[in-house]
Amino acid sequence: MSNTSLAVVVLAAGLGTRMRSTRPKVLHEVAGRSMLAHVLANVAALDPAEVVVVVGPDMPQVAEAAAPHRTVVQQERLGTGHAVQSVQSALGGLIESPDAEVLVVCGDTPLMTAATLERLRAARRDRQAGLSVLGFQAAEPGGYGRLVTGNDGALLRIVEAKDASPEELALDTCNAGLICARADLLFELLARVDNANAKGEYYLTDVVGLAVAAGESCALALAEEDEVQGVNARAELAQAEAAMQSRLRARAMAAGATLIAPETVFFSHDTALAPDVIVEPHVVFGPGVQVGEGARIKGFSHLEGARVEAGASVGPYARLRPGAVIGEGAHIGNFVEVKNATLAAGAKANHLSYIGDSTVGEGANIGAGTITCNYDGFGKHRTEIGAGAFIGSNTALVAPVKVGARAVIGAGSTITAEVPDDALSVARGRQETRAGGAKRLRELRGNK
Ligand code: UD1
Ligand code: CA
Repeated sequence: MSNTSLAVVVLAAGLGTRMRSTRPKVLHEVAGRSMLAHVLANVAALDPAEVVVVVGPDMPQVAEAAAPHRTVVQQERLGTGHAVQSVQSALGGLIESPDAEVLVVCGDTPLMTAATLERLRAARRDRQAGLSVLGFQAAEPGGYGRLVTGNDGALLRIVEAKDASPEELALDTCNAGLICARADLLFELLARVDNANAKGEYYLTDVVGLAVAAGESCALALAEEDEVQGVNARAELAQAEAAMQSRLRARAMAAGATLIAPETVFFSHDTALAPDVIVEPHVVFGPGVQVGEGARIKGFSHLEGARVEAGASVGPYARLRPGAVIGEGAHIGNFVEVKNATLAAGAKANHLSYIGDSTVGEGANIGAGTITCNYDGFGKHRTEIGAGAFIGSNTALVAPVKVGARAVIGAGSTITAEVPDDALSVARGRQETRAGGAKRLRELRGNK
């Protein structure tokens, strides 16, 4: 059941100038999905009644990535407070109820967890405060807003680094940029925020001081610094990626996979490894990979959009592309590429092959150097290989083509027509051997 009193506002109108990119900042990827998608996934875990993403003008890709959530265009980038204010009418009736709650998050903090968002909400609820703010101890407070507290530790206001006095700059409890508030209070305060500050912007952070002045209390929740890390430049994107990879490695191991050298294995946000999977060093998982119990992914393999079933073995140096399904106990060896193809249980392709747009039956053996010629320059065609078939080395299977169950194909064949079940087919130049022919050739050329 959805959380009927909760609306989430995701701030994503920033241009991300420092990324030096034609792509809006929040669409840059971490562990194979956009930062915005990470944030939206965490937000979804709270099951809010409404999520609205604030985007800048001319950002149709962000709106597309935000779907099915609504987006509101902030025509002029006048500050975080102005950005939140711009969703007020979009939230409509939802925020009129007295217990309505608004949670504001940033689109560029992909490491934030749903658990921390819940803690921010709980901090406000538990103290029956008007607002709650997420803070963290910054190793280098730099440009972050500083949390100014009173003698009793209660939050008094947030001062932006550019507006801070030297004493305030010395504070190291900083604002993570998220806020949770009673909806009526938030919009009432935002209407009073001005832009008389160093940046000439309407700061969301000013609502804290205004709330305190109005006699409302502000709760504080604390987060780990690595979770609140915002991404503003490519180097920070790489740091976020590194932090996310360590999390994913830890998650895979906690779920029962062995990573022989975890720091060399790269995951996608959705990689699913069953217990007792063994991943050797230097393996890259792109999006959409599932690996079944006890399977082994050997070194230097690259997998994306693929399913590897229990007990199968893949690599070393294998490439599984989208639509590859490697059946139970099947073997894919070195320098084998599989795309949009299913290998049934126990099938083997151990060396140097391309298997595309194909089905390979149970226990079939694909010899070294076999190529499915699936593309004729115009369209893709399918190859079907029956159960127990044996494809000799260096065979070209020109699709569309079918090789029957238990059929045997001689090495070096170019197969262009159907091979029935149990048939033997050889399709290559016939070998001609002339006894003594080499000797005669040498004599003709005058050398011994
Ligand atoms: C903000 C906080 C600061 C905090 C820091 C944490 C304010 C005034 N300051 O500063 O206290 O320490 O985050 O990272 O809130 N955005 C819009 N529209 C705007 C302006 C910003 O959508 O008009 C979005 C940005 O795309 C970004 C987020 O709001 O996702 C934060 O804006 P940014 O300019 O990065 O704020 P900071 O200066 O980092
Ligand atoms: Ca920022």
